Amino acid sequence: MRILVTGVAGFIGSTTAELLVARGDDVIGLDNLSTGDISNVPRGVTLVKADIGDAVTIRTLGPFDACIHFAGLIASGESMEVPELYFENNVGQTMTLLNTLLSSGLNHFVFSSSAAVYGDVTSSPILEASPMSPTSPYGASKAMVEDYVAWLVRQGKFRAANLRYFNAAGATRAHPERHAVETHLIPLALDAAAAGTPMSLFGTDYPTPDGTCIRDYVHVLDLARAHVAAVDTLANRESLTVNLGTGVGYSNREVLRAVESVTGHDLEVRELGRRPGDPATLVASVAAAKEILGWTPQHSSLEEIVRSAWESRQ
Ligand SMILES: NC(=O)c1ccc[n+]([C@@H]2O[C@H](COP(=O)([O-])OP(=O)(O)OC[C@H]3O[C@@H](n4cnc5c(N)ncnc54)[C@H](O)[C@@H]3O)[C@@H](O)[C@H]2O)c1
Repeated sequence: MRILVTGVAGFIGSTTAELLVARGDDVIGLDNLSTGDISNVPRGVTLVKADIGDAVTIRTLGPFDACIHFAGLIASGESMEVPELYFENNVGQTMTLLNTLLSSGLNHFVFSSSAAVYGDVTSSPILEASPMSPTSPYGASKAMVEDYVAWLVRQGKFRAANLRYFNAAGATRAHPERHAVETHLIPLALDAAAAGTPMSLFGTDYPTPDGTCIRDYVHVLDLARAHVAAVDTLANRESLTVNLGTGVGYSNREVLRAVESVTGHDLEVRELGRRPGDPATLVASVAAAKEILGWTPQHSSLEEIVRSAWESRQ
C-alpha cells in the first residue's frame, strides 16, 4: 500500500513507519519538524518537510491508499496556556489535510486520538461508549477531529479508525521517547535517575490505594502494531473507534519504584500538590481493540516498558 504517515519524525509515528516499511508498504512521511527530530525518520521512508496544513505541497504527493495521522501538538498543560495554537494546529490543519487528501481520493484514514477525549471520568475501566467530555483544549482538539471524521464517514467519503491511546510509553532502540518538552512520567523519572536530580510527584491524596494517580501504560511498539492492524481492518469495515491500553493501571508510586529497580538508582522524590485537571484513575477497557482489531498488547508489562525506555537511552 502507498501510505502517508504524518508526524513521522515523532515518537509513535516513527516507530509505526518502521513496521510499515518492514512489511513492504511504500511510506511517505510528512512532518514540519516543529517538535520531531529528523534522526527518528526510519530508513526507507520518503520525508516531506511541510505542515499538514500545506495543501499545495500535499496535492503534489499524489493519491494514497491510507493516511495515518500522528502529527499534532501533544501537551495538554500547554494547551491550557495557548488553546488557539492547539485548535489551529490540531484541528484547522487536520481539516485542510483531510480535505486535500479527499480531493485526490483517499480511502482509509487512521487517527491518533487520545484518552484525553473522555475528560474526568469516574468509571473504570473506560468504555469507548463513554461520552467525550474533554477537560483541556488538547483533548477537545482530538474530540473535534473525531466528530469531523465521523461526518465524512457518514457521508461515504472514506473509511476511518479512531485510536484512543492511553499512556504511550516504552521505546525501541531506534526511536527513544524524546519529546521537545517532556511531560510524561517515565521519561522524566529516567532523566532524574540518570542525572541524580529530584523528581516531582504531583498529588498524593487521590482516592487510590497509595494516594497517587493511576494510569494505563501501553508500549509504543504495541501501539505501532495496532495501527498496522487498523489499516488492514478498514478493508472490511467502514469505521472503528477503540481504546489502546492494557486494561491494567499502575500508580505513580509503582512506576517510580519500577524506575528505581530497572535503573538501580534511588530517586529523590519531591511530593507536591495535585495538578489541575489530573483525574485520579484512567484505565482503558480493551475488549473492543481485541475484538475489532484482533490486537492485544505484547510488550506492555511495566517492567518491559521501563526497561526498554531505559535501554533506548544507553
Ligand atoms: N505520547 C502519548 O502518550 C500520546 C497519547 C495519546 C495520543 N497521542 C497522540 O499521538 C500522536 C503522536 O504523539 P507522539 O508522542 O509521537 O508526539 P511527538 O511530538 O513525538 O510527534 C508529533 C510529530 O508531529 C509533528 N507535527 C506537529 N504539528 C505538525 C504540523 N502542523 N505539520 C506537520 N507536522 C507536525 C512534530 O514535528 C512531531 O514530529 C499525537 O497526535 C498525540 O496527540 C500521544
